[in-house]
Amino acid sequence: MMARLFLIPILLLSLFNPAFFEEIVAAKDQKYTLNNGASIPMVGFGTWQIQGADLIKQVLDDALAAGYRLIDSATLYGNEADIGKALKELLPKHNLSRKDIFITSKLSPADHGEKAYQALESSLKNLDSGYIDLYLIHWPASFALNASDPKNAELRDESWKQLVKGVKNGLTKSIGVSNYNVRHLKELLKNDHGIKPVVNQVEWHPNYHQNELLELCKKENILLQAYSSLGGTGNKNLLENAEIKKIADKLGKSPAQVLLRWSLQQNIAIIPKARSAKYIKQNIDLDFIIPNEDMEILNNFNQAKYIVNPNKKYIWNPDTVA
Ligand SMILES: NC(=O)c1ccc[n+]([C@@H]2O[C@H](COP(=O)([O-])OP(=O)(O)OC[C@H]3O[C@@H](n4cnc5c(N)ncnc54)[C@H](OP(=O)(O)O)[C@@H]3O)[C@@H](O)[C@H]2O)c1
Repeated sequence: MMARLFLIPILLLSLFNPAFFEEIVAAKDQKYTLNNGASIPMVGFGTWQIQGADLIKQVLDDALAAGYRLIDSATLYGNEADIGKALKELLPKHNLSRKDIFITSKLSPADHGEKAYQALESSLKNLDSGYIDLYLIHWPASFALNASDPKNAELRDESWKQLVKGVKNGLTKSIGVSNYNVRHLKELLKNDHGIKPVVNQVEWHPNYHQNELLELCKKENILLQAYSSLGGTGNKNLLENAEIKKIADKLGKSPAQVLLRWSLQQNIAIIPKARSAKYIKQNIDLDFIIPNEDMEILNNFNQAKYIVNPNKKYIWNPDTVA
């Protein structure tokens, strides 16, 4: 009888919790099956501007402990070798093996064209991880050309051809793109040399998101992976926005969690970056539901009155690339 009485408050609390009505898979366990059959975690750990062996080891230790299983790196970030080294020590410490984690890296825009294959080999050598899970073309233009130079289209086509060879030779399991707009993506889909991109990693937050790009990705079964979900390093524009804070307070979550959950709730993958253990943990603790009325506010943010510079990108703009 006593045991039953204890159950009543729990049941009442559950009824006020939106999670009671919708099934939530814990963010750390959410996976997506890519168009080539490979499985990718929906929440990953971003590492841009995280450099130096000690810092890398510390943040990856915290990230693996918190449940992250995807690490997002790039040749440009200059941290592939330190990530590779840290994982050699950390995987056994966390009872994990290579197959339990997903490593993304990216082709430097300095390596477009025929050099792309060698660049992929070099990333793999740096990471020393046996294979890379996902290799992305970081940026649709080459650093050797002006963004508006039409030769960029030829170069990225050649890069893709080289990365396709990389998949066939087992260097990377999957390939994708980053910062491709609708035009760049349609061009690649017309001539994909036998392998379709599995992911398009783009800037994506309530103040900058493009429905046309999302629709194209959904139609082609290309996973959209959001970067700079919090507005990017040092930018408090979103994190301190009054409307976002209001939603966060109402839900008993932080603004960062609301920004991340907003993407995840739309089946958009996320790769937040943080240095402190507190933020690292918080950014994968996303097992709550944003009610429809608040999703609506966030969805319309980029046209709305809530923000000083509506529809503003914080990072680089691929629309300038021919
Ligand atoms: N493909 C591309 O072109 C591209 C471009 C940009 C980013 N990316 C990838 O996407 C990842 C994420 O994007 P991002 O690094 O630009 O920025 P972000 O994830 O939007 O934000 C990172 C910033 O937010 C702070 N932060 C993290 N968690 C927080 C929390 N819970 N509360 C308050 N502040 C918090 C971080 O502080 P601390 O760092 O001081 O902890 C840092 O200043 C990158 O690391 C990279 O892997 C890709």
